[in-house]
Amino acid sequence: MSNQSAITAAPGSLHSRLPTAGWLHRNLLDLEELSAEEINHILDTAVLCKEATNGCRRKIDVLAGAAVVNLFFENSTRTKTSFSLAARRLGADVIDFSASTSSLSKGESFIDTAKNLEAMGIDAVVVRHATPGTPHLLAGHLDVGVINAGDGPHAHPTQGLLDILSIRERLGDLKGLTVGLVGDIAHSRTARSNLWGLKKLGAKVILCGPPTLVSDRWRELGVEISHDLDAILPRCDVLNLLRIQFERQHTSPFPSVREYAHLYAMNRDRLRRAKPDLVILAPGPINRGVEVTADVADCPQSLILDQVTNGLAVRMAVLWLICGQRQQAADQTADSRRIV
Ligand code: NCD
Repeated sequence: MSNQSAITAAPGSLHSRLPTAGWLHRNLLDLEELSAEEINHILDTAVLCKEATNGCRRKIDVLAGAAVVNLFFENSTRTKTSFSLAARRLGADVIDFSASTSSLSKGESFIDTAKNLEAMGIDAVVVRHATPGTPHLLAGHLDVGVINAGDGPHAHPTQGLLDILSIRERLGDLKGLTVGLVGDIAHSRTARSNLWGLKKLGAKVILCGPPTLVSDRWRELGVEISHDLDAILPRCDVLNLLRIQFERQHTSPFPSVREYAHLYAMNRDRLRRAKPDLVILAPGPINRGVEVTADVADCPQSLILDQVTNGLAVRMAVLWLICGQRQQAADQTADSRRIV
């Protein structure tokens, strides 16, 4: 308990070390729209946040007075908790909005609901929705920052960032690394955000899975396609094991889960045939025995729980860059009023 408790650090020195300059966006909607420099800027800020909060365990009050709303219309364990905790670690207030108990059930539109929340003086909305483009729609109607926490199968930028940060921590520069994204590519927003982020930072991306879940058309985005994990395994520096998203599928993409696991699950035997320092990632939730066996999920090469910690760091960085920028602008306006 003692080292996990919220101890408020003096924010002064950190305030000056946490950059907002170099970040010109009001929202974070997707990694596709960011440059390599901007992605590295977020990752570097995440490293500072992690250091300043003793590995994401302590509180710093750099966003005291700010308010963040979590608007989640899909289930979530890691992402929602992590955004809430990240905002609280920075000293911001957090409102966890529940769609089922809100006036949405009385017929109020999604945009009207969001505009009412905005009118309460919030600084950012974190949104997850089953419909692709929902955060983009919201960003067009709101003046506050909008952060995409997953829009259907389209994008999940903070997941892409935390995956990349975890690779960078273990293997260093991403340039020249080969990263295999394995599994249900068709329905994975994690795969899409990883793809853009990894390519921008100079990594080679291989998408691997059954032909029903990995279309050859992905080649048009400059990635390699494979349906044979054993064939690509010796070339990979990183494998990101994506869950089969049964909840998004209308027909069965393969004859049985057992057959899928036989061909694509990362297991001990495959680990022996991979590079000795292969890094294993999974966004979670993991289904032990489907995309990864239990022993491999818990082996030293698996960064699955480090990813969760890095998720906090990345979300602190994103919240800081978006809300901190607003805070700085507000402070400057107040200063100039005082001068006048
Ligand atoms: C992912 C998601 O929701 O897109 N998980 C997550 O955010 N940690 C992947 C998944 O659900 O399999």
